[in-house]
Amino acid sequence: MKDEGTREVKARKRSKHKDNENSGIEEQKVDEELIKRFDEAKKYSVISKIGNTPLIRLDRLRSYLGLPENITIWGKLEGFNPGGSVKDRPALFMIEDGIRKGKLTRDKIVLDSTSGNTGIAYAMICAVLGLKLKLCIPSNASFERLKILTIFGAELVLTNPLEGSDGAMNECAKIYEKNPDLYFKPDQYSNPANSLSHYKTTAPEIWEDTGGKVDFFVAGVGTGGTIMGAGKRLKEFNPNIKVVAVEPEEPLHGLEGLRNTKFSIIPSIFDVNFPDMYLRVKTEDAFQMSRLVALIEGIFVGPSSGAVLKACEIIARKFVWNGTENCSIVAIFPDSGDRYFSSRLWEDKRFTDLISKIRWKK
Ligand SMILES: Cc1ncc(COP(=O)(O)O)c(C=O)c1O
Repeated sequence: MKDEGTREVKARKRSKHKDNENSGIEEQKVDEELIKRFDEAKKYSVISKIGNTPLIRLDRLRSYLGLPENITIWGKLEGFNPGGSVKDRPALFMIEDGIRKGKLTRDKIVLDSTSGNTGIAYAMICAVLGLKLKLCIPSNASFERLKILTIFGAELVLTNPLEGSDGAMNECAKIYEKNPDLYFKPDQYSNPANSLSHYKTTAPEIWEDTGGKVDFFVAGVGTGGTIMGAGKRLKEFNPNIKVVAVEPEEPLHGLEGLRNTKFSIIPSIFDVNFPDMYLRVKTEDAFQMSRLVALIEGIFVGPSSGAVLKACEIIARKFVWNGTENCSIVAIFPDSGDRYFSSRLWEDKRFTDLISKIRWKK
């Protein structure tokens, strides 16, 4: 017997593209049962806990770096999301958008390319909703990420590590084109629901938690969703806020989740002219910052957070060092450090040296 759940229930007809609204060329039926399931899950399941992450003042780190007291650095700890990263937010919005528009029904497979965290977010949400998931991911993604994806039940298509996230994107496009009816492809690189999630949730949370005191908003660029969405909303709150984009300096870098727009494909949701400033950070400097913030603030984050933090230091020294006015710098820390146990981030000699220098010091 066919599972009732695999059928699309009532037919609320919708055209696929706006242009086709009245043409009747392509129609999509909303899966009412899935909508019901989603609404329930958003209220009661683990996905109800996405967002509202802590914003922490990094006063001890500021003082360790020798920065003046008129500077406040805030870290938004996105690793506190139930899927462990900032990507829970866009994944939830993209899946919801697909379900409400009838593009995602229970008989479809969710398909996307990801450097890891978005995949984990999809995998968690798909597990909650009972949906199938196939992911294209570079084979050099951290062991932890690949393992978590498998634990949540995702099917993985491993792609050439030398081609990075662009290789995963291309493979995903090929799979989709072979059988478009079988898949729902949210495509985080071109889906406006990605940046919308940050516009609607990340930015208002920052605004509230800082009491509206933000001078710089600093975030890494992967798809560009965080910086575009949260940056836009923050500028609506206060147009004087400077939005700073952080990129890896080296083309082959160790900052998982980040891309250098000079060397790779520009995602269509990312407007290169939007950020007020770009800061490029070396992998090694980012790693050292992740280590420092663990030892000094007890905050355990991944390398892209270290990169963002390094950028905060650069901003503080270069742009506000001599200022007398208070200055508030808000940084997004995309994920937590436990996704990188197998990388050299926590194993390197420089970390050991840092531990011996800092441990037990007041
Ligand atoms: C660890 C990490 N840092 C930063 C980012 C960048 O976020 P966004 O895609 O919103 O630009 C990502 C995205 O995958 C990530 O996984």
